[in-house]
Amino acid sequence: MDYGLIGEKLGHSASKEIHEMLADYTYELHPLTREQFTPFMEQKNFRAINVTIPYKQEVIPYLACIDDTAKEIGAVNTIVNRKGKLYGYNTDMPGFIYMVRKNKIEMKEKKVVILGNGGASQAVQAGVKHMKASEIVVVGNRTIKKGVITYDECFDKHSDADIIVNTSPVGMFPNIDASPVDLKHFPKCQAVVDIIANPLTTKLTAKARELGMIGITGLEMLVAQAKYAAEIFLDEKIPESKIDEIYQRLARN
Ligand code: ATR
Repeated sequence: MDYGLIGEKLGHSASKEIHEMLADYTYELHPLTREQFTPFMEQKNFRAINVTIPYKQEVIPYLACIDDTAKEIGAVNTIVNRKGKLYGYNTDMPGFIYMVRKNKIEMKEKKVVILGNGGASQAVQAGVKHMKASEIVVVGNRTIKKGVITYDECFDKHSDADIIVNTSPVGMFPNIDASPVDLKHFPKCQAVVDIIANPLTTKLTAKARELGMIGITGLEMLVAQAKYAAEIFLDEKIPESKIDEIYQRLARN
């Protein structure tokens, strides 16, 4: 494989379609079991890859070098093989920032509640920090680590949140009737960002729009992170306008 995506389950991934609209290479979906993962990383038989769940942290020991964003987040989604040495990057955070800015959501000086504390949440937390939110609250589910609070505690103490970001899988296809929170808990909320890419409107963002808030979902972030990854793969710039062009095309279908 020259270019592609590794992860445990890739059945639903739109990445092949997106990358092949961005660049001239063939992009393969390459699912790996845990047993297959180690030899794959040792053999380095690829030019450049993207990495998804559950290997974004597990690839790090195989890298010769990791960029500052990936270091900050503690996860790598893009790897380039340069003369047998592996270089790691994270384009999830810039992808998230692109989507927030494109939709004119201002995070500066805002109180932002982030639902979920998995890998995707780490990239979102770094992005929200980068956009200078005044307060960031992270809400967990079963695993409540230091600095993470429960949903009940959040409703109790942070009902004044300005922006909600969902990084949990609640509401993702095929469970489209589920929503991670009832927005009635957040009367001051102005915008809801759901990083779920499928469906295009989640139950949460539909409700947000009904209440007069901005409500956006993650397909734009998915396309943006792919564009930034393709630029690293090829070491060349791709016009920013490509993101919207591809997003619009996918959204229509
Ligand atoms: P990723 O690594 O891609 O971010 P994840 O780890 O599967 O995805 O889930 C992200 C977050 O969503 C986690 O905080 C997870 O909480 P727990 O691992 O503590 O349970 C949360 N999450 C997963 N399923 C959930 C559910 N049904 N309700 C609420 N939160 C959920």
